[in-house]
Amino acid sequence: MRFRPFFELHSTSRFHKTSLIVRFNPSTAAIKMIAINMGPTRQIGLNSQMSLRQSHQRSLSTICNATHRITVLPGDGIGPEITDVAIKVLQAAGDKEGEQFAFTEALIGGAAIDAHQDPYPEVTEKSCKDSDAVLLAAIGGYKWDSLPPVQRPEKGLLRLRASLNAFANLRPAVVLPQLADASTLKREVVEGVDILIVRELVGGIYFGQPRGIEVRNGERVGYNTDIYSESEIDRIARVAFEAARKRKGRLCSVEKSNVLEVSQLWKEVVTRIGEKDYPDVELSHMYIDNAAMQMIRNPKSFDTIVTGNIFGDILSDEASMLTGSLGMLPSASISSGGPGVYEPVHGSAPDIAGKDLANPLAMILSAAMMCRYGLALPKVADRIESAVTGALDAGYRTGDIMQTGMKQVGCKEMGDVVLQQL
Ligand code: IPM
Ligand code: MG
Repeated sequence: MRFRPFFELHSTSRFHKTSLIVRFNPSTAAIKMIAINMGPTRQIGLNSQMSLRQSHQRSLSTICNATHRITVLPGDGIGPEITDVAIKVLQAAGDKEGEQFAFTEALIGGAAIDAHQDPYPEVTEKSCKDSDAVLLAAIGGYKWDSLPPVQRPEKGLLRLRASLNAFANLRPAVVLPQLADASTLKREVVEGVDILIVRELVGGIYFGQPRGIEVRNGERVGYNTDIYSESEIDRIARVAFEAARKRKGRLCSVEKSNVLEVSQLWKEVVTRIGEKDYPDVELSHMYIDNAAMQMIRNPKSFDTIVTGNIFGDILSDEASMLTGSLGMLPSASISSGGPGVYEPVHGSAPDIAGKDLANPLAMILSAAMMCRYGLALPKVADRIESAVTGALDAGYRTGDIMQTGMKQVGCKEMGDVVLQQL
């Protein structure tokens, strides 16, 4: 591939001098950036799907140690409380590593419906698209439950994922030894569980057409379409194979190919990619009903799971209960090139909103995932993750993971403990 110079940029900061040369191949729209004078030369071969502007901004922030621009979406319910805590932790962890964040707050979900009559207003979409990453808390609440589906807070979340093309949702379910007794399952079943669910997030029955409610033969019928193209299956399968390769090397593809054509194609494509490009990864196939059962019977049999949108939605809630609390699970939704969305798996918990009872750890861990996967800041991520482990080791628990002999704290205090541990 031949690259020709596109532009050059030289910047000098108090800390280091950087020259950035950007080369652009017009025929493939691929971009290559070379940074000079900052230790070993770094070359970044960027995804051709990445827009020029995005890749330029992204690499500038990676290479020049610039400020990382985060759109923060506190959303509804406990969202604002856990967001406050997560931002403090992120800033403090960043300070220690010499990294700076610029936060732009925007509305989504019920809060956006109240202010703009739209769960995902244009100004929010623009801010998200102009960021390096999006940190989202949770959406929804009783207040908006009676609205029609297209106006509900959930629609805002689905539109956010679709607009950023955040197709790969990574949901780790790790049972920390400190919390093995917090699960409703026996310690010996859950201890040591370390599962990564890779859920396809912008396709399948959530988005398939046709869909609707209409009158047929004198009565109303409701219908949706579960649909996946080969290319959609291909791209999610590759993310999962890559992840499995970095983990224990085992991938289980979950579908319902004994009944559904969409699953037959899924299985065929995943098998083909495995044989051709990932022969080193041990691939297995499981029907969703069996997977749901095996998940509580013998969760340790799973390493990495890849599945479609709706099966992944259900399995990830189930997996979260292995860990004792939904309040512990972070997630990352990654796109090809643009900003990803980082959010806890749990919801907005309107019943405890504003009472300082929420567990902020899933949100804090989502911020860590953002640093690791979205901003290429593994050291900041490590710091945050160790601080969370440290807080648990020191015996601090929020109500949802409380056990006898431990110190029960609220949302803010848990945040303060994590800050001390940094
Ligand atoms: C999730 C949630 C969402 C989903 C809802 C709130 C739309 O359950 O992130 O798992 O179904 O994807
Ligand atoms: Mg869900």
